[in-house]
Amino acid sequence: MLTERMEEALNQQVNAEMYSSYLYLSMSAYFESINLKGFANWMKVQAQEELLHAMKIYDFINERGGRVKLTAIDAPPTEWDSPLAAFEAVYEHECKVSGLINDLVNLALEEKDHASHIFLQWFVTEQVEEEASADEIVQKLKLMGDARGGLFMLDRELGQRSFTMPTSSE
Ligand code: FEO
Repeated sequence: MLTERMEEALNQQVNAEMYSSYLYLSMSAYFESINLKGFANWMKVQAQEELLHAMKIYDFINERGGRVKLTAIDAPPTEWDSPLAAFEAVYEHECKVSGLINDLVNLALEEKDHASHIFLQWFVTEQVEEEASADEIVQKLKLMGDARGGLFMLDRELGQRSFTMPTSSE
């Protein structure tokens, strides 16, 4: 059984993951609008992953006998100044999400909720990856500066990313 505080905090995280999905889908649309299809693909896959994060928490709340309560999702921005600005925003956003996950872990400890504590470990590990992959692309974009050739090569690379439905152990 979840405590009231834990249930509320997990519900808030469902909303945060939904917002992340919405944000990345908005970035995907931005990249489509400037004809960077590979970047758009990367963002669309990222949006799908975020939806999966939300569903993981949604299922966990139900499994623990809690009550899922969906709330309004904020509208994301729709424009960015450049591919670099968009990826800097991704990195910044992921750092913020890592903070939210850390807060949830602290709350689980406070509430002596070991099941939630174990469940959240997956998210702690995932956030390390999420921050690293966003930062890697930020660094590449910084390195290439205004070189158009580099941008098209990176677009091709990001176009390779595909969404894979994880198995239950992932
Ligand atoms: Fe679900 Fe990118 O954090």
